Amino acid sequence: MNALSCPLCRLPLMLNSQGVGCGNRHQFDRAKEGYLNLLPVQQKHSREPGDAKAQLQARRQFLQAGFFLPLRQRLQQVLPASAQQVLDIGCGEGYFTQGIAEALGSAQVYGMDIAKAGVRLAAKTAKSEAMGTRLIYAVASSFDLPLADESMDLVTRIYAPSKDAELYRVIKSGGMLVIVSPGEQHLLGLRQRIYREVRPHQLTPVPEGFRLIEQQSLLADLTIAQPELRAALLDMTPFAWRMSAELKASLINELFVDRMDFTLSLYNKM
Ligand SMILES: C[S@@+](CC[C@H](N)C(=O)[O-])C[C@H]1O[C@@H](n2cnc3c(N)ncnc32)[C@H](O)[C@@H]1O
Ligand SMILES: [Zn+2]
Repeated sequence: MNALSCPLCRLPLMLNSQGVGCGNRHQFDRAKEGYLNLLPVQQKHSREPGDAKAQLQARRQFLQAGFFLPLRQRLQQVLPASAQQVLDIGCGEGYFTQGIAEALGSAQVYGMDIAKAGVRLAAKTAKSEAMGTRLIYAVASSFDLPLADESMDLVTRIYAPSKDAELYRVIKSGGMLVIVSPGEQHLLGLRQRIYREVRPHQLTPVPEGFRLIEQQSLLADLTIAQPELRAALLDMTPFAWRMSAELKASLINELFVDRMDFTLSLYNKM
């Protein structure tokens, strides 16, 4: 089953040789990297919405080096093996999306992000690793998802914004939502270097219409020995952009020892 719906008229989108199209002849061609652009210009509030290319490239470099592998593995452990239709919202350059598809052998996995540069990187990797149509990447906004009502068994949201009502609309009754957010200790040492006073992370409120089933914490040391990977971490971390060039240079030159702290929240749609 294909869960995609037309971002212009909401009719189902059917796969065709060039991409996807609806019964009202709205056609969305597949880009050469293999992704679909399902973000109509009306929904694009800036020329390049979402994370910037340089930020996504830094994220790719950092994630590929394996620093957040413990999170990827933990995610793989908590996902329900029976999920067949899965959305990873705010998928970025696809590091976790790919991990989700690998863990759920036969599922159809959609990776969506509003930043075209991220979706492009993600799709390129999926193509080279022959993930075929099991993994569909699309440029789309989490505030207006091009997906049919009650079409997803599982939605994952790793550090990305979304709208509760949209999540509620696309998830099947009894389906699952997994949200990953930063915990208290996450990069605390780095935050203390940047801010005079470190404010605690906001707790993620339970999204409306969902019930919290379980919350897990993932705490681990994070030591970065290579200067170029310290630079990548600073470039992919929005709160790090506010520091002075001087501080940035000294952080890149010192050994980086900190902690990662993630909270995984598992919810059921009621
Ligand atoms: C911190 S990144 C996390 C990316 C990925 N989940 C990961 O952990 O590697 C947040 C992502 O949310 C995306 N984003 C921001 N606003 C969005 C929106 N309205 N709809 C979809 N994605 C959005 C950004 O482009 C960015 O790729
Ligand atoms: Zn249409």
